[in-house]
Amino acid sequence: MVNVAVMGHGVVGSGVAEILLTHAESISRKAKEEINIKYILDLRDFEGLSYSDKFTKDFRKIADDDEVLVVAEVMGGVHPAYDYVKECLLKGKSVVTSNKELVAAKGAELLKIAQDNNVNFLFEASVGGGIPVLRPMAQCMAANEMTEISGILNGTTNFILTKMVKENLSFDTALKMAQDLGYAERNPDADVLGHDACRKICILAALGFGKHVYPEQVKATGITEITLEDVDYADKLGYVIKLIGHCAKLDNDKITAAVYPALVPKSNMLSGVNDVYNAVVVKGDATDDVMFYGKGAGKLPTASAVVADIIDCVKHLKTRKYLFWEDGDQNYVEAQENVPTRLYVRLTDADNSVAPQIKAIFGDDVKLLNNTVANEVVFITNVEVEKDLLNKVEKLQNCKVAATLHAID
Ligand code: HSE
Repeated sequence: MVNVAVMGHGVVGSGVAEILLTHAESISRKAKEEINIKYILDLRDFEGLSYSDKFTKDFRKIADDDEVLVVAEVMGGVHPAYDYVKECLLKGKSVVTSNKELVAAKGAELLKIAQDNNVNFLFEASVGGGIPVLRPMAQCMAANEMTEISGILNGTTNFILTKMVKENLSFDTALKMAQDLGYAERNPDADVLGHDACRKICILAALGFGKHVYPEQVKATGITEITLEDVDYADKLGYVIKLIGHCAKLDNDKITAAVYPALVPKSNMLSGVNDVYNAVVVKGDATDDVMFYGKGAGKLPTASAVVADIIDCVKHLKTRKYLFWEDGDQNYVEAQENVPTRLYVRLTDADNSVAPQIKAIFGDDVKLLNNTVANEVVFITNVEVEKDLLNKVEKLQNCKVAATLHAID
């Protein structure tokens, strides 16, 4: 029998307990050991559960109990999760976590501590909820050099955008629905401002390219400025608006990494990823594009990934899984303004004079849509370095910029 502790009994933690208890027999068979939840750490009281006797409010009980060999951290946030996880690893316990904020902030350091102490630190649930993506990247795609990773990495915002596109619902109504369904973070700003997707692209970039990427190095733009008009323009131009996380290797030993709402062509598979579903496209030099798709948020999908990591730790108590990246450095991520991109630009054009200027400055082949809404013009540029595109937009006379968004191919 292997004793485990679960730190946190919120949405994900309660799902972990539920899966471990309801599937106890089949999980033991797969782990080749009975897995016993010895403690559940939470400051709140949970009475009347079949496992109420397992709760403790005292982290020391877990840290100081040598019988606990695997700890699942599902509390969220960096503090006190970081101190707890670090201490558990230093004491020779393997740790699994769903906490992307922690992994994005401290992943390289915690992986090193795990390596030094010959234990495992696994975090499959931190990206893509129930989608297997980190383990397939690290193991099944190990023969590849990764060159680019992109995807829809946040279930809450994808749910909101889908409701706006398909049901014409307001942003606030759709956000409330996502919160009621348990998809949103404790603070919804982390979802709607792009911070959650930013943490996930940092983790994917670190795993894919081998060096830590800190969230502070990555420009993240959320979906709060997206209007139903932009959704409609995008549709008319043959696109769907999605919140995209993207990272890629550049020629100068740096990488680009960013999160932004983008127009995605209807022919691109990411345009068909709806509701709480996430998708991650990983380009390897041998495989080319590999796509991972599934539920990116929610109690049981996320708990599924946490429990799989617990099983993996139990099966590898004396060996380390290969999962590692180096610490980051300050100049590793190129400033977003220096990266080539394509922009969607929406202008108010009081005297209907801007269309010829757009053609003259951006070229005859730009995709242009005018007079759908009185006095408005939208167009999609060709690919150029972002700051050059924005300088060109500034040259347009007698008009006002109402929105600029990225557009991908
Ligand atoms: N709030 C996150 C999301 C949860 O909506 O994707 C899963 O990481």
